[in-house]
Amino acid sequence: MTNLPSVELTVYPYECDAFGHLNEASFLALFERARWDALARGPGMNVFQRNGVWPAVRKATVDYKAGAFPGDILTIETVVTHRGTTSMTLRQVATRGSDGVVVAEAEIVFVCIDRLGRSTPMPDELVKIFGPRTSGASPREVQRHTVNGVELACDVRGEGTPVLFIHGFPFDRTMWRHQLAMLARWKRIAPDLRGAGGSGAPPDGYSLARYADDLVALLDALGVRQAVVCGLSMGGYITLELLRRHADRIRALILMDTRARADSPESRRSRDELARLAQAEGPAAVADRLLPRLLAPDTPVSQPEVVTQVREMAARLSVPGTVGALLAMRDRKDASDLLPKITVPTLVLAGAEDQITPPQDVRALAAAIPGARFTEIPAAGHLAPLEQPLATARALGDFLQAL
Ligand code: MLT
Repeated sequence: MTNLPSVELTVYPYECDAFGHLNEASFLALFERARWDALARGPGMNVFQRNGVWPAVRKATVDYKAGAFPGDILTIETVVTHRGTTSMTLRQVATRGSDGVVVAEAEIVFVCIDRLGRSTPMPDELVKIFGPRTSGASPREVQRHTVNGVELACDVRGEGTPVLFIHGFPFDRTMWRHQLAMLARWKRIAPDLRGAGGSGAPPDGYSLARYADDLVALLDALGVRQAVVCGLSMGGYITLELLRRHADRIRALILMDTRARADSPESRRSRDELARLAQAEGPAAVADRLLPRLLAPDTPVSQPEVVTQVREMAARLSVPGTVGALLAMRDRKDASDLLPKITVPTLVLAGAEDQITPPQDVRALAAAIPGARFTEIPAAGHLAPLEQPLATARALGDFLQAL
């Protein structure tokens, strides 16, 4: 993908509406200004004119994510995500300078037209600026990598310091959908673990060690030597297993709603019972059993779509993947001994209303890690990335920014 120079623009009062927010139509104007600015700093604003062509916008989509106000300085990054013979797609991300929050993302499709308005192949000078033709594959398409004999589905987006997102149970990579969209300054890598989402589901052989080894093989396949590793709940257990087995691959740690202790005898019995339920009635029945404690009490009322998303993720789990994950968690070793030895920067996050890993327990986990930062996400249960996407992305962005 080709990057155009990033541009900083200040929000003016006249671009804002009666409520003081940057108006939605003004966003389009700012994105356009950033594109012309990028040209002005490079080949010159007249680059189209001198080549006898013009870029006609065929489609513009804007995803509004947060407010911007007079005086805010927005950094607008522009990437060519697709280039065909006569058309190209640019992705633009506007980030608030003061706190690194992504306020809007745009996707703009252009067709190169001649003086008579006919679409025409891009002249050589423009090809040099916007990069070579891309294959048909969209950068948003899921990647597939075979590791340790299993094909893993994986979202890979953006450039920068790699961040590996590890999902919990009974979820898949889509639990990170908002953070993948918002954290535009980093290379986001979010796989489905074996047995989950779009990944292959072998009949057996599930363990935390196997999950961790799969992820290291995936990093190898992606050419990533070190990543910030961010795991939620079971993803956190796997993160600690990665630390035990492959510490040299970890640049920094983000542990969310998780614990280091092994299962109690009672929890182990309940894993066996849930595994039997999965075999008898399928993963959806397991999700229904877990749902009452999964989310903050208000989430199902204020955001019923989160309940739907949990059910959809569970429906994509295979039966062997569900049983395998339950038994892998049941049999996991206590990882408490690792915590005082952690030397990489660590952020620990907890949903303030998490009933599965209560915030006081997660705070104690953070206290056992030298120098770890602890943050509570208000109005979130066990699934802050979906329940409070913006607050979660902000906490992650602040930490990543400081690395
Ligand atoms: C998870 O979200 O991954 C689970 O709650 C972990 C667990 O059951 O211990």
